[in-house]
Amino acid sequence: MITYNDSDLILAPIAGYSDAGMRVLCFRYGAGLCYTEMVSAKGLFYGNENTAALLHIDKEEKNTGVQLFGSEPEIFAEVVRYDCIQKFPIIDINMGCPVRKITSNGEGSALMRSPELIYKIVRAVKDNSGKTVTVKMRLGIDGLQNVQECALAAQEGGADMITVHGRTKEQLYGGKADYDAIARVKEIVKVPLCGNGDVTDVVSYRKMKETGVDYVMIARGAMGRPYVFSSVLNKEYQYDVKEAVLLHIDRLCAFFPEKTVMNVMKKQIACYVYGMRGSKAIKEKAFAASSLTELKEIFQ
Ligand SMILES: Cc1cc2nc3c(=O)[nH]c(=O)nc-3n(C[C@H](O)[C@H](O)[C@H](O)COP(=O)(O)O)c2cc1C
Repeated sequence: MITYNDSDLILAPIAGYSDAGMRVLCFRYGAGLCYTEMVSAKGLFYGNENTAALLHIDKEEKNTGVQLFGSEPEIFAEVVRYDCIQKFPIIDINMGCPVRKITSNGEGSALMRSPELIYKIVRAVKDNSGKTVTVKMRLGIDGLQNVQECALAAQEGGADMITVHGRTKEQLYGGKADYDAIARVKEIVKVPLCGNGDVTDVVSYRKMKETGVDYVMIARGAMGRPYVFSSVLNKEYQYDVKEAVLLHIDRLCAFFPEKTVMNVMKKQIACYVYGMRGSKAIKEKAFAASSLTELKEIFQ
């Protein structure tokens, strides 16, 4: 099983956002699997200290996947044996990041230039981790829509699930995700498929499910809106933004120093209060806060 909790909904890896606090909240509202933000395989290999906090799992988390990015099968083979990776039940490989800093190293969506390399990386992770291995890709790169070929290469390498974000690398996050292209991948792969792109409510969720995908992944629709999972599943829920923010702060304090919690939470709070009455004033107060006590007082 990829997800738990009878849920086919997955929280996407979101750099700077899908931390342990956000994941705990998303699980509470019905996510069946949550991913960490992407973590550099090379960073782990060379002992970069900044990556350690990104790998913290809260005691309440039930089914969290770690997402790694990189381009060298040998490095992947090594780091997936580390205890800090082995504690995760699922390992995801990033094949979709469009950011130049990443693709210029041949990582992220640049992997889609070589289905052969995709095969080797997935095989290296599968053979050396003993874990459930998933991959996340886009529709293609360099004007080429080769997601089908890449998905088959990942499947051949031993991937247990493939996520397709229905945009090419060049589209970044603009335009509309192409659900027909996702449906065409579903027609040819045997492993479970997860559809991603523009799912924010029950209508878009149902549209995505019409493609035949087994799972649905949500990123932007869950930022500051952990209840989106209950809402999409048409389940009753209660939500209090104050409680959510305070719980989020509390969970981050378990592993981040105060200054980092402040920086992370200022961005998260901007999402939590987005569209709310008085949100501008709350954001201004949050950005001006100089201690966690001050930040919490805004919500207490
Ligand atoms: C701020 C931000 C950070 C992201 N970080 C990652 C990441 O670390 N790994 C990844 O595979 N995708 C990342 N993505 C892409 C999302 O996981 C997702 O594929 C994309 O946003 C489309 O889904 P959505 O329409 O539900 O937002 C990021 C997206 C955003 C907006």
